[in-house]
Amino acid sequence: VTPQYAELLRRYGSPLYVYRLDEVRAAVRELRACLPAEVRLYYSLKANPHPAVVAGTAAVGAYPEISSAGELAAVRAADVPAERCLYTGPAKTEGELRAAVRAGVRLFSVESAADLARLRTAAGPSTVDYLVRLHPGDRPAVAGLRMTGSPSQFGVEPADLKPELLAGAAGFHLFSATNLADPDAVRAELLNNVAVTARVATEAGFTPRVVDLGGGFGAPFAVPGERPHYPDLREALTDALNAAFPGWQRGEPRIAVESGRHLVAAAGTLLTTVMDVKSSGGKEFVVCDAGVNALGGMSGLGRLLPSTQPAGQRAGAAPATLVGPLCTPLDVLSRSARLDRPAVGDVLAVPNVGAYGLTASLVAFLGRPLPTEVVVDGDRVVSARRLTLTETEVV
Ligand SMILES: Cc1ncc(COP(=O)(O)O)c(C=O)c1O
Repeated sequence: VTPQYAELLRRYGSPLYVYRLDEVRAAVRELRACLPAEVRLYYSLKANPHPAVVAGTAAVGAYPEISSAGELAAVRAADVPAERCLYTGPAKTEGELRAAVRAGVRLFSVESAADLARLRTAAGPSTVDYLVRLHPGDRPAVAGLRMTGSPSQFGVEPADLKPELLAGAAGFHLFSATNLADPDAVRAELLNNVAVTARVATEAGFTPRVVDLGGGFGAPFAVPGERPHYPDLREALTDALNAAFPGWQRGEPRIAVESGRHLVAAAGTLLTTVMDVKSSGGKEFVVCDAGVNALGGMSGLGRLLPSTQPAGQRAGAAPATLVGPLCTPLDVLSRSARLDRPAVGDVLAVPNVGAYGLTASLVAFLGRPLPTEVVVDGDRVVSARRLTLTETEVV
């Protein structure tokens, strides 16, 4: 643990999430430099909705992509104008849409005729733009998680693009895959999305004003490693867009992409303290003060942390089972952590958890306090907070 982390732990206690804003800004700048300058980059708040993190992405030119009232509240808390948001997601309620329009959101992605009907009702006399989310059958690459190319709840299949849906549309939204580890796969995915949106537009006789090509930009999760780089993307995308949408550099249509994890994963580290070390049935169990309640979304879904652990990692050490503080055998962070003689009081640093960390976890399970989240900018502490669950009487 660095001296800065040791000091933060002393001040704020354990477990502790630390988010580094310089790293957030660097990731946004790097990705923007890999894209043609005219392409708008949306930051997907689902990766990390901390207002200071959102403000960090906005400070270097990212726009917010949101899909809930909570994410809209985070945008407002970050002092980013709601007019800059793209509001996406299946099953948006009329109430949340009404609140979003009232707050100033003007661009939505709609997933179906039913979704559009709710948006129209919610917008009332206000003018809003919407993108039709497409679900084409094409499948260019292997993704971590695919949204298109196989049956899913997302978007509208081209054959179902009714004239009523397109008549008032501003354009298309095609988020086809997430977390592609290979930069070549990201490029293939985006080029395919350019071709698909152009083809669907031509077939429908529709001229989009906005085309959101989605993303798929990868990042390591909870293991050491660097985010991927995309040195060839800018040129390849420029060529493909020139061919598909000749006016795109004049903003006809305006092109956008989305990224969550790639922009914030590396900025976040979870510090957790070893509370116990014991052996059972010949296996070593390392009991930490953070488990699936603090870093649980992904491991709770069966993606256990792989067998590396940076703080004190030791080649050749027998693998230990890293567990959290919850009273369930399911509270396992890793079944094969290689730790260097772990002892009570040691601090483990889990890297690359700035995305899908705390807010993707089972935070209410067993009622432990949530970890404090500290945001630093270099040496300076920008914010320290602890989220709590609150009770509201429903009448
Ligand atoms: C529509 C949409 N946009 C953006 C994202 C963010 O994905 P990532 O964090 O992998 O960039 C997702 C993730 O599921 C998504 O569904």
